[in-house]
Amino acid sequence: MSEVTTQNKNNIVEIDYMELDQIIEDEFDGNRENLIMILQAIQRRYNYLPKPTLLYVSEKLDIPYSKIYEVGTFYSTFSLKPRGRNIVSVCLGTACHVRGGGRIQEQIEDSLDIKNGETTNDKRYTLESVRCIGCCSLGPVIKINEDMHGRIKSDEINAVLKKYE
Ligand code: FES
Repeated sequence: MSEVTTQNKNNIVEIDYMELDQIIEDEFDGNRENLIMILQAIQRRYNYLPKPTLLYVSEKLDIPYSKIYEVGTFYSTFSLKPRGRNIVSVCLGTACHVRGGGRIQEQIEDSLDIKNGETTNDKRYTLESVRCIGCCSLGPVIKINEDMHGRIKSDEINAVLKKYE
């Protein structure tokens, strides 16, 4: 069973319920104690947590939707909003901030024509600021998906972003 189930402003999401069953039942034994890992798997699949998937998990695991929503909003790694294929994280922790992290963020905002927390219309990039990603000596640092880019300069941003197009 594969269905188109939800539509938001610019985005249509196709939810594959067979695949969800596979995640919930086969990978995680339908065990409610695996809720966080189930949500992580769903987020890996959709890049965020579409509401219909949360409702489905709620029904399958017999956990109130409000509880699942709470988990989805509590952990910063989860997103309830659609995100781009590439997550651009700009570190604004103290060490990066004093080395120009703010200017790097502005440059990325200009290059992508979005503000912090937004996703480009073509769904290629989502920009998110973060607090310290653990390599302060390389500041200012940006992370794109799992790749770290340290000692980044404003005039290098466009070339770095282009690699992920
Ligand atoms: S403050 Fe940016 S990596 Fe630590």
